Amino acid sequence: MADASAANPEGKLWGSRFLGQADPLMEAFSASVRFDRRLWAADVEGSQAYAQALQEAGLLTAEENRALQAGLDAVAAEWRAQAFALQPGDEDVHTANERRLREIAGAVAGKLHTGRSRNDQVVTDLRLWLRAEIDSVQRLLADLIRVMLAQAETHLDLIMPGFTHLQLAQPTRFSHWLLSHAWPLHRDLDRLVQVRARVNVLPLGSGALAGNPFPVDRKRLADRLRFDDVTCNSMDGVADRDFVAEFLFCASLSMVHLSQLAEDVIIYGSEPYGFVALADAYSTGSSLMPQKKNPDSFELIRGKSGRAAGSLMGLLMVLKGLPRAYNRDLQEDKETLFDAVDTWSASLRIATGALATLVCRGERMARSCDEFMLATDLAEYLVRKGLPFREAHQAAGEAVKKCEQEGRPLSSLQADEWSRLHPLFDADATRALDVEASVESRNVIGATSREAVNEQIRQLKRRLENSASTLRVA
Ligand code: ARG
Repeated sequence: MADASAANPEGKLWGSRFLGQADPLMEAFSASVRFDRRLWAADVEGSQAYAQALQEAGLLTAEENRALQAGLDAVAAEWRAQAFALQPGDEDVHTANERRLREIAGAVAGKLHTGRSRNDQVVTDLRLWLRAEIDSVQRLLADLIRVMLAQAETHLDLIMPGFTHLQLAQPTRFSHWLLSHAWPLHRDLDRLVQVRARVNVLPLGSGALAGNPFPVDRKRLADRLRFDDVTCNSMDGVADRDFVAEFLFCASLSMVHLSQLAEDVIIYGSEPYGFVALADAYSTGSSLMPQKKNPDSFELIRGKSGRAAGSLMGLLMVLKGLPRAYNRDLQEDKETLFDAVDTWSASLRIATGALATLVCRGERMARSCDEFMLATDLAEYLVRKGLPFREAHQAAGEAVKKCEQEGRPLSSLQADEWSRLHPLFDADATRALDVEASVESRNVIGATSREAVNEQIRQLKRRLENSASTLRVA
């Protein structure tokens, strides 16, 4: 029996109807094995499940199936040992694996592709691969959130300025600030749960576009590959890359979250602030200025967030003009996805290490809380005495103006000065000028008091543990 390589001198899996040779430039242009080789394990797993389905459909004998399973095990072993030798004609990982299988198992390898197309094969592999990557990114997100929770618990006492418009606004707790960056990351984790469900749908059995002509049991195939469902339209099955776009959106938004965290840490770590200091392991020096220690870890995270957003835009542009069903444009889904997975994972790991080793300088935080940040508390003091807030705001503003003009702190105002500013200001008005009292006075759910922040920590832990149990994140 003639095998494919005998039918086609160039060894191509599809070459028999072609005359002459491809332009070598075209071959290089078309080849994807350089990057899609990382799908090797998914490709072997998909092929082994498919061979089993072919046997169950009566298209392979038990013995042929055994030969294919053993051959594919051998192919996988070569990849694992980094001993898989790619050949010049290997266009992508799918053709490379089948070529090698033929060399190992002989002509029976030619039966594996019965009813299957690379179109349903490649998207099956991509879904299998991405599913595992999602599980891994979820673990990384959970690790980062846990480090943030641990730092928040350790530094619950530290009070620092909170900012709006990057101007001193009101005092807050360091823990409260840090957790304000943990919640978005927890939403990222949740978002991935939803996307994973749409990734975990099996397209195999869609053929090139029109479905499989043989009675392969797609539901059993899905069970074997641990997919929750099968695609219901073979043309959509091979053309759909929504799951890639959704994942890239998750990556982009999460990178934006990391970038915002990075921006805060960079600012708070800069000398005029000095609230935090990065460990040397996450900083670099300057080749010119000997005194410099730069926050390159977080600057790179901030910079790489642009790359992730670019991946999303890139894929949307690939998809937007495609006619049904499969088009080779779809090969362009991979590099962008691989890059986003690598960028996001690396950024999460670096952020985790940098935050775990972050030094917090409570004394610098406290020193930066100037008294004018307590002007709102002064107004609230008057409100507690029955004054409408608008009038209270006015009176507190007068106090700020007077002190600013006279270049003195609010706490230097004497009893007679207070009562001239507003008759409801008693000598105890200065007691409102206390950062600890200010953060403690905010005790509703989600606010800055010790009790409220402790409750917030409990909530986030509970939700994280719930996610961890549903998500294989533990
Ligand atoms: N390497 C291709 C891809 O990534 C595999 C599918 C090729 N199919 C085809 N009809 N040429 O999409």
